[in-house]
Amino acid sequence: MKIRNVAVIGGGTMGNGIVHVFAQNGYNVTLIEVKQEFADKALATIDKNLSRMVTKEKITEADKKSTLSRISVNLKLEEGVGDRDLVVEAVNENLDLKSNIFKKIDEAAPSTAILASNTSSISITKLAAVTSRSSQVIGMHFFNPVPVMKLVEVVRGLDTSNEVYQEVHDSAKSLGKEPVEVNDYPGFVSNRVLMPMINEAAYCVYEQVATPENVDAVMKLGMNHPMGPLRLADFIGLDVCLDILNVLYDGFKDPKYRPCPLLVKMVNAGRLGDKTGEGFYKH
Ligand code: 3HC
Repeated sequence: MKIRNVAVIGGGTMGNGIVHVFAQNGYNVTLIEVKQEFADKALATIDKNLSRMVTKEKITEADKKSTLSRISVNLKLEEGVGDRDLVVEAVNENLDLKSNIFKKIDEAAPSTAILASNTSSISITKLAAVTSRSSQVIGMHFFNPVPVMKLVEVVRGLDTSNEVYQEVHDSAKSLGKEPVEVNDYPGFVSNRVLMPMINEAAYCVYEQVATPENVDAVMKLGMNHPMGPLRLADFIGLDVCLDILNVLYDGFKDPKYRPCPLLVKMVNAGRLGDKTGEGFYKH
């Protein structure tokens, strides 16, 4: 099967980036959202990011126009996935929500379609188990900002077939990305390594080892990270970081993943980072 027609469910930070990169690389993409205003916001973000690429002379105005012409919107999930080769789910990190969506996609998408999730830590094997096609379910984990970051972590569930892995690997390559194969265990590789670093950085602030600025300065200047871990935590969303840490903590039953109490407190206060205007930093 050659993947040509893609549906992306959810037009949030990750979803709109995923729509952007597929459409820019010649795929026909349907964005599935629950409300027109959410879809409009996603399209406006894609338009803005494409314009930035035109300004930087990475693409032409004509490329931008043809990219946008390949994107359609559908507010009805069942209808939107009806003729798709690949469906990429990119809704909030909530197991019940994702499971319900996977059940619906499984019923409505063609029997040959591959069902992928952009989840950052929820088990692909669990999502596959609610469908009637577990060998065609896979993780396709993109990184923020999607148009810029090279990695796609391709996550094999327990039953994912080699053919489906290869299709998804090849489609990630066709987006100019570098697919990396990992197996389905909590946090995969990316967040199993990244989140303990962010958590430890939060402990450094909690235990008054250093200010957020100084923790980040150490990691930027000493380790050449483009953003310090606490600036990155704000960028990702502190609620997302906490959710992932809880998945690691529950999944491994290992206290080394215990979320820092300061991180928990900040999430409880609604200080979620860039999206609320305040996290470890004021934005
Ligand atoms: N769309 C298109 N292009 C974009 C963009 C977007 N949304 N955002 C940035 N860019 C481009 C800029 O145009 C610029 O291009 P240029 O190099 O040709 O000039 C380039 O990216 C760099 O952007 P800026 O100059 O504006 O800013 P920086 O140099 O500070 O880079 C950054 C910004 C790329 C975000 C960089 O700070 C970075 O790499 N940070 C780390 C990001 C990271 O770790 N992401 C992963 C998060 S974890 C995740 O997503 C997984 C989840 O499961 C938690």
